[in-house]
Amino acid sequence: MRTPIVAGNWKLNGTRASVRSLAQSILDGLSSVHADTQVVVCPSFVHLGDVAAVLDGTRVALGAQDAADQEQGAFTGEVAAAMLAEYGCRYAIVGHSERRHVYGESDAFSAAKFAAVRAAGLTPIYCVGETLEDRENGATHAVVERQLRAVEQHDGVAGLDEAVIAYEPVWAIGTGRTATPEQAQDVHRFIRETLRNGASVNILYGGSVKPDNAAALFAMPDIDGGLIGGASLQADDFLAICAATRSE
Ligand code: 13P
Repeated sequence: MRTPIVAGNWKLNGTRASVRSLAQSILDGLSSVHADTQVVVCPSFVHLGDVAAVLDGTRVALGAQDAADQEQGAFTGEVAAAMLAEYGCRYAIVGHSERRHVYGESDAFSAAKFAAVRAAGLTPIYCVGETLEDRENGATHAVVERQLRAVEQHDGVAGLDEAVIAYEPVWAIGTGRTATPEQAQDVHRFIRETLRNGASVNILYGGSVKPDNAAALFAMPDIDGGLIGGASLQADDFLAICAATRSE
């Protein structure tokens, strides 16, 4: 079922003290956020325990920023989805553009992570999105479709039924250059039409979402919420974005 979701991707930021304080400030301001809106925060792996302790028993869910494609074994440096579940994570971001484009992770590798996350009982927040070059070449839909099909090939068509999709155009991430609501809506509708059960899948927009542009994005018919980077590091900004979700 579609429900408004706003997830904060804290990326490589914070100290143990600062993430505890950020999580607490979000809890303190939650009354401004509609009860139907699912709020999620995704700290770095090493901060999960601290943030989990603050969020325990509240309506804010915990997510991880990545997960291994493997369950266990000799994979130095990796963190398995089952380990994340043990820390109370309900979500894990998979295929973020920084993993794909900064660290060179392929569609197939992202799809393997997706399957591992689902196998551990977590909900993948599966990121798709085109580069500026793709967009200028008119390849936006083709790139997004290829990224979705990679998961279907690895995990079967049913896998995406259980996921949250995040459309994050690479050119809009951390650049201050947001997709217009119409540009985002066009791709969100395309994703919904491409998915087998698109009508019931939550599709989030990510890329320079701020308090002053969130409401216009979230008002679009196929945008169910946001995946927020920079603005999720300030509790007031993040809460204002959470409060901008549609609440029907
Ligand atoms: P910004 O909101 O900083 O553009 O980051 C978006 C993002 O990458 C969320 O995953």
